[in-house]
Amino acid sequence: MLMLLLFAVGIRAEQVTVKDGVYSAAQAERAKELWTKSCASCHTLGTLSASTKGPALSGAEFLAKWDSKTVFALADGIQKTMPNDFSMELTAAQATDVTALILQANGFPAGEKALAMGEAQKSITIVK
Ligand code: HEC
Repeated sequence: MLMLLLFAVGIRAEQVTVKDGVYSAAQAERAKELWTKSCASCHTLGTLSASTKGPALSGAEFLAKWDSKTVFALADGIQKTMPNDFSMELTAAQATDVTALILQANGFPAGEKALAMGEAQKSITIVK
């Protein structure tokens, strides 16, 4: 019984979501330049841009689609496929920063530390 309880507590402790302050405000801020240059022409994002060539990256529909997926899936997908006009290739650092900006535009709070690249993102879940 006690074992079961400890197990349940252990699982809960590892469930970090985008509501837990997983990126820094400075990180989102520095991604704005890249956003304007390489993403804004195709995507809607909060008050930053409004284009419908690609899907909106903020709002209920976007969150419903990404609900329960990991931040890694989002950032890795961005790095590997965006921008899809072959204008540039993103580094993992750029994709991570722009992911922070997308989280911010969707109303998730900033925290103390910047979102780290790679594996660490696999333990952070996107929620509506
Ligand atoms: C030339 C237009 C264009 C540019 C520039 C562009 N995108 Fe996209 N993006 C698209 C299209 C079209 C899709 C949907 C089809 C696909 O996934 O390839 C898409 C899909 C996405 C998705 C998946 C959305 C979802 O809910 O499935 C994300 C995230 C994304 N783009 C982020 C970015 C970011 C970040 C940038 C800038 C680095 C960027 N895009 C630049 C056209 C563009």
